[in-house]
Amino acid sequence: MNIVFHSRHYGRMACDLLAYPVFQDEDCGRPPLKALDRAAGGVVASVLACGEFKPELHRTCLIHRPAGLRAQRLLLIGAGKSPEFSLARQRELAGVAARFGRRARCLNVAYFLRGGDPIPAAARAAAEGALYGNYESEIYKTHDIETADLDQFLVLGDSRGRSSGADDEIRRGAIVGRAVNFARSLANEPANVLTPEQLAARALAAGGEVGLEVQVLERADMEKLGMNALLAVSKGSAQPPKLIILRIKGRKPRQGAPHFALVGKGVTFDSGGISIKPAEKMEDMKADMSGGAAVLAAMTALAELGTRHAVIGLIPAVENLPGGRATRPGDIVRSYQGKTIEIINTDAEGRLILADAIAYARTLGATRVIDIATLTGACIIALGNINAGMMGTDPEIIEALRQNRAITGERFWELPLDDDYRKAIRSEIADIKNVGNRMAGAITAAKFLQEFVGDAPWVHLDIAGVDLDHDGQPFAAKGATGFGVRSLVQLLA
Ligand code: BES
Ligand code: MN
Ligand code: ZN
Repeated sequence: MNIVFHSRHYGRMACDLLAYPVFQDEDCGRPPLKALDRAAGGVVASVLACGEFKPELHRTCLIHRPAGLRAQRLLLIGAGKSPEFSLARQRELAGVAARFGRRARCLNVAYFLRGGDPIPAAARAAAEGALYGNYESEIYKTHDIETADLDQFLVLGDSRGRSSGADDEIRRGAIVGRAVNFARSLANEPANVLTPEQLAARALAAGGEVGLEVQVLERADMEKLGMNALLAVSKGSAQPPKLIILRIKGRKPRQGAPHFALVGKGVTFDSGGISIKPAEKMEDMKADMSGGAAVLAAMTALAELGTRHAVIGLIPAVENLPGGRATRPGDIVRSYQGKTIEIINTDAEGRLILADAIAYARTLGATRVIDIATLTGACIIALGNINAGMMGTDPEIIEALRQNRAITGERFWELPLDDDYRKAIRSEIADIKNVGNRMAGAITAAKFLQEFVGDAPWVHLDIAGVDLDHDGQPFAAKGATGFGVRSLVQLLA
């Protein structure tokens, strides 16, 4: 799909589908809707007046052969209330347009930017949204393919607005949009295809394309380093573990400037191990590497966009299965950092692999750590599939993530990290155990990770509730969401 910016008047734009967002609180009596209604021969006013179209967020109304426009079809898209509009909504509406085009086989779509944001920023959001909406996971379908990739997505800016820089912002938006889809495609892959080895292979391939330094530690390397927490998780699987390391030097890493580490959980399948999970929804555990996918995708985008920060990405990749060699509840391992861990529950495996990856990131020189993981069911109970959990000791990044939600559309909600929560993971026999009681499960998981971060400012993102969307949205295919990629790129680009 080709994404192009244009400031030519929409009335003169030949295309299969012209998408025009309409606010709930505007009418055809005032510009700019008045101009659209005039150009389209009064049809907009009539569908609004008779109640056929209510411009609630994401609702649509299709008008064929609108008299006066060169577009074959006019798609009115509900934009919700204008004071609530944001770049995040612009992205969604462009996604609605792209998805509608896919389904209706209108492969040449034009989307008219709305809202008060500067045109270049709005155009970037629209480009990201177009790619998001155009994504479909149908590589395994041999029949009944019902939609088609768009050929062209035109982003139309108001011809009177200042649009210099829009082309460049679209290019940047397309980099981010493709990265998000890359993360989605990895998380959607079944676990028989996307093994730790295959994840490493894809990291090498993707890294090669964008000039990212990629290194993969093998089991023997990790044995030498003493990464026994990570290795313990992979023991029941025939698939060898991998520790994927990605490096960006940064344009101007100031002396003493923070050296960021992004650490993403890469469990390619989480059966629970010996503490095996119930069958229901276990298939979703193929996406237990969504955090790792977000790190890989964000790193490729950062390599393309450029960043002044020095950043390392670490993805501990393992498969968690039961078996004759599997770790047992009660086993004790010595972690890379030195602390001993009593593994009470083999299903609390994410924190084990992250513990070693985070500690290793510190020895590699990271002074600021962000980890992202589908870590706990407790986080889903607390926040549902709306907000991701956020915990940590880096107020600057926590605040930035909170602020950026209007730009990225990714919502994070902070949970507390009082030291009193640590009691729950005290072990009688080792330094620490890998589960607490049933209370505050998202927090005790974070407290476990904190033991391995040392004194570096750190933020933990629990994306267990938001990495998959089984309902689907008018702007998105069902399945993996790529949650986190936009936020990580927004923070560091
Ligand atoms: N990958 C799961 C968390 C998860 C559950 C993600 C559901 C997405 C949907 C994680 O490894 C896990 O199993 N966590 C356990 C921890 C418990 C044993 C302390 C959980 O949350 O049940
Ligand atoms: Mn688990
Ligand atoms: Zn897991």
